[in-house]
Amino acid sequence: MLKGKTILLGVTGGIAAYKAAALASALVKQRAHVEVIMTAHATEFIAPLTFEQLTGNRCMVDTFDRNFSHQVEHIALADRTDLVLIAPATANVCGKLAHGLADDMLTTTVLACTCPKLIAPAMNTKMFENPVTQDNLDILRRYGWEVIAPASGRLACGAVGAGKLPEPEVLLQHILRQTALPHDLAGKHVLVTAGPTQEALDPVRYLTNHSTGKMGYALARMAMLRGADVVLVSGPAAVPRTCPATAAPVRPPQARPHGTATGCGHMPPQRIRPKPGPPRPRPPWSTFPPISSALWSPGRGRRRLYPSTARTASSTRRSMRRRKFCPWCGQAAIASGTSP
Ligand SMILES: Cc1cc2nc3c(=O)[nH]c(=O)nc-3n(C[C@H](O)[C@H](O)[C@H](O)COP(=O)(O)O)c2cc1C
Repeated sequence: MLKGKTILLGVTGGIAAYKAAALASALVKQRAHVEVIMTAHATEFIAPLTFEQLTGNRCMVDTFDRNFSHQVEHIALADRTDLVLIAPATANVCGKLAHGLADDMLTTTVLACTCPKLIAPAMNTKMFENPVTQDNLDILRRYGWEVIAPASGRLACGAVGAGKLPEPEVLLQHILRQTALPHDLAGKHVLVTAGPTQEALDPVRYLTNHSTGKMGYALARMAMLRGADVVLVSGPAAVPRTCPATAAPVRPPQARPHGTATGCGHMPPQRIRPKPGPPRPRPPWSTFPPISSALWSPGRGRRRLYPSTARTASSTRRSMRRRKFCPWCGQAAIASGTSP
């Protein structure tokens, strides 16, 4: 998807620098031409040779290294770059870029780049939450940078919170969104629900279905690549959680309480004792309206709803014969096969 594009990957002196190697490799697999510039401190964490082997190009560190093919390499490189990503970006480099400092090969080259620029800050949570760091990131946003939010979790320093570099596959999706396809869905808001739902029968058991989430994730990804603002509401899907750039995976709680129409509340805790008397009646299946019914509220502007139902081959043939329509919006329902 990135054939003919030159991606400039900036790597700075953070503990997550090793993840940049996997990203460089993923970009090469997408057939991008990848140029890597490292800061001097980044070379303490990972060797330039790693990037040279992965990309087939010289990895640049020193502005005054004259062993290049062009006279003024940082300007020549800036001119032929289609997209810049700095990952990981230290607090130091965020500050330097926000204030126009250009004292090494990376900051000098990036200052001369006019293409889209992405930055993935990664650092200790307190460093990230420091108002100075946040101000610097705001300044970068104002200058047109896309700041990729760090992931949360346990950091290398032992702290737990925001500051982790997102996984290389997630960073790749951000790059693809910027460059891979024309943005003919820009300005559209797309909400995709994917994966199976779970209906609680009691605090222990639930009803579910064989949905894998593959189709919903693929639709969300294509809408994202075509520039739409995507929100992905996902059940416990079987596909990897490498979410599209703008898609926010909203995982509903494990189960909707039995009998609620569309809510996502938990079944309240309760003691379960075997009840004497006749066996409990079968659950009233018809009291579980699909989530899509809640999304369809007529009279709220121009909206299109495309409900999709998991079907086996024979039930798809049957419903095709009957030309099945969504009961809430009247549009034809999309059938998706149940996959293993
Ligand atoms: C073991 C170690 C890990 C570090 N990890 C980070 C980090 O994840 N994020 C960060 O902003 N700085 C981190 N630092 C501090 C930077 O390396 C330091 O600020 C350095 O000056 C950054 O230089 P650069 O921005 O030119 O690469 C770390 C330092 C050490 C010694």
